Amino acid sequence: MRNSRTACLFCVRVSLISVSTAAKPGVLMFGRSSLSVLEGSKMVRIPVIRVNGSYSKISVRYQSVEPETGPYSQIQGLLEFPDGVEMQEIEIPLLDDSIRGPDVSVRLMLVQPSKKTDIVGESCVLEILDDDMIPGYLELEKSMLSVVENVGSVRLNVMRLDGTDGQIRVKYRTVPDSAVPGSDFSTTVGELVFEEGEKAKTLTVDIVDDEIRNHRKSSR
Ligand SMILES: *[C@@H]1O[C@H](CO)[C@@H](O)[C@H](O)[C@H]1NC(C)=O
Repeated sequence: MRNSRTACLFCVRVSLISVSTAAKPGVLMFGRSSLSVLEGSKMVRIPVIRVNGSYSKISVRYQSVEPETGPYSQIQGLLEFPDGVEMQEIEIPLLDDSIRGPDVSVRLMLVQPSKKTDIVGESCVLEILDDDMIPGYLELEKSMLSVVENVGSVRLNVMRLDGTDGQIRVKYRTVPDSAVPGSDFSTTVGELVFEEGEKAKTLTVDIVDDEIRNHRKSSR
């Protein structure tokens, strides 16, 4: 009697209430059900995620189901998920043919899951948009640049984005803001010519060093 009472002072009830999902291999699904890319983007990455567990190494195969051909080499392969890894990416190199053609959609499926895991969810539709014959648009790489007065000249990059088809030309000129043309910078006008395929050009503005201490200036 006395013994059992002493023992009870140290009683602790332990019960198992849930099994951690970390001890399960989980199931696999596409991280997104559709994706659009430009043909010229060279590579597309499609996430495949592992949910409801990440225990042990599992794998799954992927393949295109329709159509089989497009601006890519055959789409098929194996994705391996090491123990604890919850996302992998299918990498599909895109072939940029420079020929105007229709946009292409291809459906990808996960197949042949390894033992212990399964596939859930839908397939993934990859849309490849033709970007040939698109001249693109131009933008100054930086909208603001600070230089010291005695720098001599400043070089600004002009970027051609979202397409490089054909030759395009752009005129430019300096517009004074708080800087004074002639005493702070040389008024500059010019034209840049982007040949087919060219993605960047540089223009130069001369900065005048007046050797007088004064406030910051700017020009556009
Ligand atoms: C993950 O587990 C929860 C709870 O068991 C379940 O409701 C859900 O459907 C599972 N998710 C997937 C994708 O299997």
